[in-house]
Amino acid sequence: MNITFLGGGNMASALVAGLIDGGVARETLTVIERVPETATALAARFGIATAPVFDPKPACDVLILALKPQQMPAALKALPPLPAACLVISVAAGLRVAALSGWLRGHAQVVRAMPNTPALIGRGLTGLYASEAVQAQERQKAETILAAVGRTVWVENEAQMDAITAVSGSGPAYLFHFIEAMEAAALHQGFTPSVARLLALETTVGAALLAAQSPEAPALLRARVTSPGGTTEAALKVLNEKAWLPAMDAAIEAACHRAHTLGDELGAAK
Ligand SMILES: NC(=O)c1ccc[n+]([C@@H]2O[C@H](COP(=O)([O-])OP(=O)(O)OC[C@H]3O[C@@H](n4cnc5c(N)ncnc54)[C@H](OP(=O)(O)O)[C@@H]3O)[C@@H](O)[C@H]2O)c1
Repeated sequence: MNITFLGGGNMASALVAGLIDGGVARETLTVIERVPETATALAARFGIATAPVFDPKPACDVLILALKPQQMPAALKALPPLPAACLVISVAAGLRVAALSGWLRGHAQVVRAMPNTPALIGRGLTGLYASEAVQAQERQKAETILAAVGRTVWVENEAQMDAITAVSGSGPAYLFHFIEAMEAAALHQGFTPSVARLLALETTVGAALLAAQSPEAPALLRARVTSPGGTTEAALKVLNEKAWLPAMDAAIEAACHRAHTLGDELGAAK
């Protein structure tokens, strides 16, 4: 399977690194990157082929669209016609299958993928969506590629990609913000900046790993460390009084709404 990336930025680099780590042969990977310095750096780092423009003549089984969403309409319209069997996977936020397919002269084999930034360390979560035109074998190919940088989950209808974007796509930023908040509170308790950072970071990482590895639900793990009349209960009571849960729900709702409007705005480009 030959895989070509259109765009050689952060997301393409993360995927290339994951695929090579997973045993994919370097000779099967090509990155189309217009910035010469970026292309040279990619070739040196991964030992893969790069080119400034896409040529579908050499076998291209999979084309991964890894440009900024705003760059996509012009870049896709400028591509030469793709072989009908070429599977296109877009990792661009917001862009819907109908818009991508339209910019690709009606090309039908299009899968949408929404990874998140922990993909950079192989711990990503990617939401996947394919229209009915995409066969099971092609879906499997898409899943195998994205599984190189973490876990994958399919959604049944495209609107759910907005919710994926809101929960797991933007989610790392919510956690970074949580770490910032804990660090600020630790500073307020008199710790030095480095100790405050250590306390906030290691507590978050440790708790997340424990939750991921435990057969028990996070709610049960929380209940276990919340003794009646104890310190944790005192803290959680304040978080609840400050409407912690409804705030998270409203935040994700806002991100979901924004993902939908971005899809409308970006998809309107002719
Ligand atoms: N980064 C993430 O964590 C993440 C997570 C989920 C989804 N995504 C999606 O992944 C996509 C890529 O994001 P990124 O952060 O990797 O972007 P990026 O770092 O900007 O990479 C895109 C690269 O493609 C180049 N390029 C633009 N148009 C081109 C063309 N026509 N031919 C060849 N190269 C071209 C860009 O060059 P210029 O700099 O000259 O434009 C840039 O070097 C986005 O659509 C984003 O929504 C990213």
